[in-house]
Amino acid sequence: MDLGLKGKVALVTGGSKGIGKAVARGLAEEGAKVAVCARDKATLEAAAQDIARATGAEVFAAAGDLTRPADVQHIVDATAARFARIDILVNNAGAAPGGEILDLTEEDWQKAIQLKFMGYVRCIKAVIPHMLKQGGGRIVNIVGNDGVKPIGIELSPSAANAADLAVTVALAEQYGRRNICVNAINPGPVATERWDQLIGGIARLRKISVDEAQKRAERSIPLGRICTPEEVANVAVFVASGRASFMNGALITLDGGQRKALLD
Ligand SMILES: NC(=O)c1ccc[n+]([C@@H]2O[C@H](COP(=O)([O-])OP(=O)(O)OC[C@H]3O[C@@H](n4cnc5c(N)ncnc54)[C@H](OP(=O)(O)O)[C@@H]3O)[C@@H](O)[C@H]2O)c1
Repeated sequence: MDLGLKGKVALVTGGSKGIGKAVARGLAEEGAKVAVCARDKATLEAAAQDIARATGAEVFAAAGDLTRPADVQHIVDATAARFARIDILVNNAGAAPGGEILDLTEEDWQKAIQLKFMGYVRCIKAVIPHMLKQGGGRIVNIVGNDGVKPIGIELSPSAANAADLAVTVALAEQYGRRNICVNAINPGPVATERWDQLIGGIARLRKISVDEAQKRAERSIPLGRICTPEEVANVAVFVASGRASFMNGALITLDGGQRKALLD
């Protein structure tokens, strides 16, 4: 199936590692020109080179911190200057401190909101004028299944994710009329560096080994394993493509049938 992505321009946030890198590579494999951003310049540039080498696509690295409004504007301006348009935004760079209500500080909540929520909002606000000028575009928010299946030990990510989902649905209604489709993907556990940190934290909290925590996470998923970054990328690339032409405001569950985010 031709996804119609040849020559399209995509910006993937957090494209230096994990899910973001897999999505950037997936888009590049389909012939898109891709800009990736992250804070660590060396890792970002190495990832951009890897993707370009593997796919033959043009890949542009724009370093910056999405908790800073000026960096967001710079990344979007630099992408538009390099490729002359922005057809696709994949909002993916995110993290929020785990923990229960009595452990979370004011600063933890601010951290969660500044990146996983406001980082997404800032990028959307910066790309929409480009998409309006071009007559359309696609925004794919990589969120997380705890946004709809919230859990007490992952309270701030659950809340930031729920806010991202509200923005997804509201903007889908507002901008669908202008041919900008906004959708979200809600993965469960995905094998990335972030997951390794998360499962380590859960093991400590539960006073069990990391191995045992990992086994419980796998048991909580009917498919018996956690997701790979490429499995998230496969869905994100399709949602970003013209083949998903009637998909707007969708909150796509991608958690192998897990009934509750993470585990008891
Ligand atoms: N892994 C999971 O189990 C899972 C499950 C559900 C949802 N998700 C969501 O999927 C997304 C990607 O997760 P992942 O596991 O692939 O994460 P990851 O492996 O930790 O990668 C995160 C990426 O975001 C970048 N980043 C982090 N903070 C940033 C900032 N302030 N400004 C710009 N870039 C920043 C990182 O690079 P630098 O550190 O160099 O900035 C890196 O490229 C996140 O939004 C996460 O919440 C993940």
